[in-house]
Amino acid sequence: MSVHRPAVIGAGTMGMGIAEFLAAAGHQVQVYEISAQIFERALDSLRKRLRKQVEKGRFTTGFADALISRIHPVYELQKLHKADVIIEAAVERLEVKKEIFSQLDAVTSPKAVLASNTSSLSITSIASALQHPERVLGLHFFNPAQRMPLVEVVLGAETDPGLAQAMMDWMMHLGKIPVKVADSPGFLVNRVARPFHLEAYWMVSEGVASKEQVDRIMRSAGFKMGPFELQDLIGIDINYAASVSVYEGFFHEPRFRPHPRQQTMVERGALGRKVGKGHYNYGK
Ligand code: NAI
Repeated sequence: MSVHRPAVIGAGTMGMGIAEFLAAAGHQVQVYEISAQIFERALDSLRKRLRKQVEKGRFTTGFADALISRIHPVYELQKLHKADVIIEAAVERLEVKKEIFSQLDAVTSPKAVLASNTSSLSITSIASALQHPERVLGLHFFNPAQRMPLVEVVLGAETDPGLAQAMMDWMMHLGKIPVKVADSPGFLVNRVARPFHLEAYWMVSEGVASKEQVDRIMRSAGFKMGPFELQDLIGIDINYAASVSVYEGFFHEPRFRPHPRQQTMVERGALGRKVGKGHYNYGK
């Protein structure tokens, strides 16, 4: 299968990163957002990011301008009717994703691939109400999507294995490192990462160490980032949603129990770098 018209749903942290990655590879990419204001804000951040790359000599201005010109906003899902692969990166809520997928099922050709970038929701569940669940799979990129090589290709119960292989081939062709994983809570990376994040919260709340100490020591131990700075990059809300869905997915298995502090941080809007404050302040 060769992909000609990819599209992305959501111009948030991940959607815009995925759009940037696809546009950098030469694809014309449609990006659906719920409002022009949100899209324009995201495009502004992308422009700033690209300008920094130009300053560092990694891109030419011509490359950055051409990349931006290949990203096309749309504000109605119907406009994606010609897309052949749609990668959904809207908020991590099952009911939102189900609604988006059932609309896409109705407006796209049954041959179009419908992928979700969900971190931890069940692909089988997202696909459950569709006429063609065999064309639904997970394409789980990592943050920042334009740079991180790993992509988990998640097969739901009904996913056509041939289609999953086609997506593996496409990702490989674009320079990513795709791995096939089963549709189980948290897939592979987010499940293994649960104790990394959760134990860090418990240790701090028990007074064993401060956040700064945990981050610094984990970095000294060879991790690229400590758990708290990584959560600020991921988004506290996104990481909390992943914690809740892994916990629920394993029927409240105690070792995956979220920490109450995750919820309070979300409630007070301390969502990480994207809003300028999380575990640390970013002076926005
Ligand atoms: P985000 O909150 O930054 O962006 C989500 C975007 O989706 C928003 O701009 C929102 O307006 C838009 N959107 C489009 N259609 C929507 C609808 N019908 N309802 C609500 N919002 C809609 O979220 P982020 O971080 O980009 O995450 C997106 C997805 O990617 C989630 O499923 C998340 O679990 C997953 N993910 C996130 C990672 C991260 O590090 N942040 C890493 C890997 C996956």
